[in-house]
Amino acid sequence: MTALHNHISMLPFAVSVFSLVSPIAAVAGDLGDVGAGHGLAKGLCATCHRIGRGETDEKFLDVASFQTIADSPSKTALNLRVFLKSPHRNMPDLILNEIEIDSVIAYIQSLKSTTR
Ligand code: HEC
Repeated sequence: MTALHNHISMLPFAVSVFSLVSPIAAVAGDLGDVGAGHGLAKGLCATCHRIGRGETDEKFLDVASFQTIADSPSKTALNLRVFLKSPHRNMPDLILNEIEIDSVIAYIQSLKSTTR
């Protein structure tokens, strides 16, 4: 009985978190929060990827920098979304929720060079 009660008391919290997220953002995938994405990239991706603007060199062999990814025409938001949601050969399968995926993609795309 107590366990059931605790479970139900979580519901208003879950609902309020979801209501913060526009349904359009979840579909379009390009309305993530750039600042949050930068924070996530620093915490989760920077061990292996260079994540800063203008950093085009690879940290390790074959691990593209986020600047290089941003400037690669084939790396669309949809492509990045699919990549981040599928298993990879060498990259660990990171558990990101939809909001985090949108944010990381928004951050990567914010690096796109304006000159091209
Ligand atoms: C433990 C190391 C490691 C971490 C941490 C890591 N990556 Fe990677 N990533 C790799 C490697 C290795 C590759 C290339 C091999 C592959 O495709 O699996 C890669 C490839 C990628 C690619 C595809 C690049 C291309 O040229 O196709 C993207 C996009 C990417 N990572 C995004 C991320 C994001 C976003 C994060 C953080 C949320 C992250 N990675 C964290 C190692 C890592």
